[in-house]
Amino acid sequence: MTTDQDLEPSVDPGRLRTTMSRFCTGVAVITGVDEAGPTGLLVQSLVSVSLDPPLVLFCPQKTSRSWPRIVETGRFGANILSGAQQQLCDTFAVSGGDKFRGVRWHPSRTGTPVLEGHLAYVECRLETVHDAGDHEIVLGRVTDLDESELDDPLLFYRGRFGSWAA
Ligand SMILES: Cc1cc2nc3c(=O)[nH]c(=O)nc-3n(C[C@H](O)[C@H](O)[C@H](O)COP(=O)(O)O)c2cc1C
Repeated sequence: MTTDQDLEPSVDPGRLRTTMSRFCTGVAVITGVDEAGPTGLLVQSLVSVSLDPPLVLFCPQKTSRSWPRIVETGRFGANILSGAQQQLCDTFAVSGGDKFRGVRWHPSRTGTPVLEGHLAYVECRLETVHDAGDHEIVLGRVTDLDESELDDPLLFYRGRFGSWAA
């Protein structure tokens, strides 16, 4: 019997990547802290999901080395980057290592790393983790937030960083 799935053309991962790269986003550093110290990773998959209850999501790759450490703590911070923070992308898009060397940050009330110079910060308690192919979908309940005076987001579009021109 032929199913609907049999009739679907296979999608080339490279084409999917370039097609979806047309979706311009901001970028954020997901942070957490465990006994070994602070850690984090750069993501563009941060999404606001629900206002009541307050929920956000992001999608870590299953190969991430920092996420398994953060998930164990049951909470994470999402530091939305400003235009002046592009150099942090080089640091937090590299897997493993001491990513906080030379980075200015302070602990939140719960100890989660807040990066100095962020555009905005939301802190979450882990709500659920869903399987999603080569990624996971992590839903977090917002427990704390902060908006800075800055107004220049760091953007990512078609594989390049850029700035907002209204
Ligand atoms: C602009 C940009 C966006 C990214 N978005 C994500 C993302 O949404 N999820 C993810 O898991 N990795 C994303 N990455 C890749 C991670 O930052 C990268 O794999 C990093 O090395 C992970 O570090 P870790 O292995 O120490 O966790 C992105 C990288 C860049 C440059």
